[in-house]
Amino acid sequence: IHRLEKGLCFPSGKELFAEKYIEETVSAYHCATENHLHDTGELEWARSVLKRYFATVSIQNERVVSAYQRYLDIENESDGGSLALTPFEFGSIPKVKESWGEEFISLCESRVSCRWFEEKKVPRSKVEYAVNCATQAASACNRQPFQFLLIENPELKSKIVSLPFGTAGFGTDLPHLMMVVGDLSNFPLERDRHLIYIDSALATSQLLLGFTAQGLASVPINWPDVEVNHRSARELLGLENYHVPIMLVGFGIPLEQAKIPYSEKKGVEALLKTYD
Ligand SMILES: Cc1cc2nc3c(=O)[nH]c(=O)nc-3n(C[C@H](O)[C@H](O)[C@H](O)COP(=O)(O)O)c2cc1C
Repeated sequence: IHRLEKGLCFPSGKELFAEKYIEETVSAYHCATENHLHDTGELEWARSVLKRYFATVSIQNERVVSAYQRYLDIENESDGGSLALTPFEFGSIPKVKESWGEEFISLCESRVSCRWFEEKKVPRSKVEYAVNCATQAASACNRQPFQFLLIENPELKSKIVSLPFGTAGFGTDLPHLMMVVGDLSNFPLERDRHLIYIDSALATSQLLLGFTAQGLASVPINWPDVEVNHRSARELLGLENYHVPIMLVGFGIPLEQAKIPYSEKKGVEALLKTYD
């Protein structure tokens, strides 16, 4: 679906594209409409894009014709959904406000790893706000091959938090614990197996900023790649073999007097290398 959207975004417009994979795409869409495992918004997006695709390309190529017939069978007598969730113009995005630049760097600088929290719980709406920040992150082909597991059950939480090695002294006191889990079932090709790490990291970064933006604090916790720990986590949380724990995130309402390691950051000169 994402590839179809890219084709639809070409400035010059294209009469024919995706002929090599449109049959596979329609077939995957069919599967998704039947198995009820998909997010409803995501499915509506797929529906919208397919409708736009078949309204745009010229339906003459043999493979496009065959995919179109299959598509019509699936959509049956419905109108195929709206065209709303399809490519839009950059200019229609709300304009960036001038003040955002300064405010954003302040937000970035305010995010620190905090390990000491009040005993109070964070309202659910604040957790959902942070996850909503995370879901806006870029991900390869928009697959978003991850989930955030909020582990509130005290017994489960203490078992999970003691599995990695970096939580000594503070792990069991964390008011909230989340596990970021990658989902390898998104990838048919072995060569893409690293994407669960990249996409999770990009999303988790936004999750952490989402907590910061609401006056909360967090600490990411390394999940070492130790098979026995993966297995324990899968067993405790009822995960499948294709679910890979990526990291833990502790979060909550920070204690005002909590001590924060200074953690001096590298300067821009050290990180930015330019090839003129
Ligand atoms: C992937 C990752 C794993 C981390 N693992 C741990 C950990 O196991 N224990 C811990 O106390 N802090 C952990 N941290 C927090 C880092 O120590 C912290 O981000 C770093 O020192 C920079 O400080 P800052 O987050 O305050 O900017 C981890 C951070 C990341 C991004």
